[in-house]
Amino acid sequence: MSLSVILLLIVIVLILLLTVFHYTTSGRKYWLLKRVPYREPCPIFGNFGPMFMMRRSYTKMLQFFYDKYNNEKYVGIFQARRPTLMVIDLDIAKHIFSTDFPCFSDRVSVSTDTRREPLLRNLANMSGADWKAMRQIVTPTFSSAKMKAMFPLVADCAQTLKQVLQEGSLDEVNVHDLMTRYTTDVIGSCAFGVDPESLKNSESPFFKMANKMLKPNRSTILKRYCRTFSPRLFKLLNLRTYSADVETFFTSIINQVLTERRKTGVQRKDFLQLMLNVQKSENGFPMTDALITSNSFIFMLAGLESSATTLSFCLYELAKAVDIQNSVRQEILECLERHGGLNYEAVSAMRLTTQVVQETLRLHPPTPLTTRLCTAPCTLTGTDLKIKVKDPVLIPLHCIQRDSKYFPDPDKFDPERFNEDLNPPGFMAFGDGPRSCPGVRFAQLIALAGLATILSNYIVEPCARTTPHIHYDPRSVMLKNKGGIWLKFKPQK
Ligand code: HEM
Repeated sequence: MSLSVILLLIVIVLILLLTVFHYTTSGRKYWLLKRVPYREPCPIFGNFGPMFMMRRSYTKMLQFFYDKYNNEKYVGIFQARRPTLMVIDLDIAKHIFSTDFPCFSDRVSVSTDTRREPLLRNLANMSGADWKAMRQIVTPTFSSAKMKAMFPLVADCAQTLKQVLQEGSLDEVNVHDLMTRYTTDVIGSCAFGVDPESLKNSESPFFKMANKMLKPNRSTILKRYCRTFSPRLFKLLNLRTYSADVETFFTSIINQVLTERRKTGVQRKDFLQLMLNVQKSENGFPMTDALITSNSFIFMLAGLESSATTLSFCLYELAKAVDIQNSVRQEILECLERHGGLNYEAVSAMRLTTQVVQETLRLHPPTPLTTRLCTAPCTLTGTDLKIKVKDPVLIPLHCIQRDSKYFPDPDKFDPERFNEDLNPPGFMAFGDGPRSCPGVRFAQLIALAGLATILSNYIVEPCARTTPHIHYDPRSVMLKNKGGIWLKFKPQK
């Protein structure tokens, strides 16, 4: 190779390196110019290098910023190149969720390209008028009356859980696996209109596919980081959030059930039926089969893992707090007795058990953060900070719920915090405002039915595989214990 070619190559490599350096660092003065406190980012990863290396969980990274800038109202962070405003002050978070909602009506995930990924065109990712119309359709499907009518489907799954426990070995129960099987059966029944048989059949294809979707491997994790931190690159590389077999599997289930119901006229008290009724009602909203499918899909995505994680953490905390477990068991047994078994009235009467679920969600909110995307230029209420359209905002739910300003002795599991109020200021596990979780009541019913079934029949205790503390898995954005949750279930006489 001649000297001039070598020199040319060196120049090309240098230009490439400089371009990458310029591209990854060009916006680093963003927060400085806005006079927002921030931490100097590093090229490519921004402030999230340890997370990309899988050394620290996303939640730990957010906790670091929350603690360091605790006296500020907000802090500017860089998620890779992308500047994001992380809110620290609770009042500002509340304004963004509620009073300033017209300026923050989208979540960051709405930037998903739903033409390429039609299953993601669902309530959680919709924007503007589309979201509003869909939310108006979905909200009533979670009303108390609808929940009451749907409860027998949940109770059936709880009954199967009881049977499976009676037949299994209970010295070292993989609680997260068991709870995921239970919630898969509930969501399969209520949102897909089928019985996934996850509890009865360890090889259930539905469970396997749901698992494939929810338990990502290294390459999927990288793909998701890419989607969050650099949506343009995600699109450029033609990456997809879920693999084709997952999409085909769930889409074909819904198609089969819809065809069957149209052919036979059979009606069932589930979400699928409620959405089918909207389709038939001709209220002006084009509730297509594709939308029914993508919304059933979001119910699974949003509800399955979050409810299973809540139940797992809850049983873990109760195994360590024997007195609280005994009081909960006593309440459950009384309510079941008074209302003639596991029904809507019985679980609705379980006040202490509900407090235990809320306290679990405060301590370990499965979704540790939420986001909003600015949809109209505004000045953040209570500040002089101007926000422009498409600026992302992050609300660190987990950090706020662990702040001693709102919950004294915040690392202690203490359901009595919820004695007076089940939704005290600072409790945000389901988000807040018009875009908060519509499935709150359903999630609580799933958790209460599961706890009632387990605790009325078993005492849960730590076993040899129980980790002494909860240590969040750095590979997961959702909160999960690194060593899993293992407990002994001792039959209760
Ligand atoms: C313990 C269980 C659950 C937790 C902790 C949870 C938490 C959350 C959170 C934090 C959000 C974002 C709220 C915000 O941005 O303000 C959300 C949104 C959502 N959740 Fe849940 N959720 C749970 C169960 C469920 C269930 C069972 C369903 C449905 C079957 C569901 C459906 C949804 C949907 C559709 C959204 C998007 C709403 C919208 O954008 O309008 N969730 N959830």
